[in-house]
Amino acid sequence: MIKIALIGSGNLAQHLIRTFTELALSNSNIELIQVFSRDKKKLSTLLDSEKIISNFQDLKKADLYLIAVSDDAIATVSSQLPFTDRLVVHTSGAASLLSLDAKNRRGVFYPLQSFSKDKIVDFKSVPICLESEKSADFVVLNSVANAISNSVFAIDSEQRKALHVAAVFVNNFTNHLYQLANDICTEHQVPFETLIPLIQETAHKITTLNPEQAQTGPAKRNDKSTIEAHESFLTNKNQSTIYKLLTQSIQNHGKKL
Ligand SMILES: NC(=O)c1ccc[n+]([C@@H]2O[C@H](COP(=O)([O-])OP(=O)(O)OC[C@H]3O[C@@H](n4cnc5c(N)ncnc54)[C@H](OP(=O)(O)O)[C@@H]3O)[C@@H](O)[C@H]2O)c1
Repeated sequence: MIKIALIGSGNLAQHLIRTFTELALSNSNIELIQVFSRDKKKLSTLLDSEKIISNFQDLKKADLYLIAVSDDAIATVSSQLPFTDRLVVHTSGAASLLSLDAKNRRGVFYPLQSFSKDKIVDFKSVPICLESEKSADFVVLNSVANAISNSVFAIDSEQRKALHVAAVFVNNFTNHLYQLANDICTEHQVPFETLIPLIQETAHKITTLNPEQAQTGPAKRNDKSTIEAHESFLTNKNQSTIYKLLTQSIQNHGKKL
């Protein structure tokens, strides 16, 4: 039996609680024994009250302590744990393994997905990136990750940093472009919904073609008159700057500059 104690009650922690609770129903050898939350009420609908603690001193012996708190709090929280030489991991894409206090055996359990409390995510399809200082600990992390996901990777801190930056491009920046497109639609009284099939096809296409093959549009074709027409259409300075920057990036991609 692998006993897990989880620390945190935010977006990711709540998804992990749901996932481990469902797993327990399938006779798994993995058990979520406790969850730490500064505010116990936050978890009252998700867990039996005896499993929720708000004092680190109440943490029981577990095989794995999963810290799912804000990146900036990882170091403080890990240093407050009242034990040594146990397996303690964080769940961040951005923080190094070294941000954890060295009094425990350190590792990382990073699920590469965007989690919001109220949007159900099937963990089976979430890639989980693992790292550990000790190889025996990797075995434990691997067992837990494989129990909840079909997609598990060994990724060190440097690689994880690169993945996290890449994730900002595909998730946060893409979403911001949706926002700008929405603004343009609103300004010109066309429904943003008409773009949704295109958004879906763009995301779907990348599962079978690489980004270079999938790229289309005036910048890729170097349709100068269309590009000029778009640039003069955009009177908003921010939209125009981003249009020019991305057009240039598409055209320069792969060239030695
Ligand atoms: N959400 C995602 O999409 C996602 C994806 C992959 C990885 N992650 C990683 O998962 C971790 C948690 O992210 P999240 O999105 O779940 O964050 P979140 O929703 O903002 O929740 C943050 C949690 O940290 C707790 N916390 C903050 N400072 C603390 C402190 N000093 N002591 C104890 N607890 C503290 C908060 O407690 P209170 O509620 O009491 O303030 C809350 O439970 C981060 O490392 C993040 O990088 C998140």
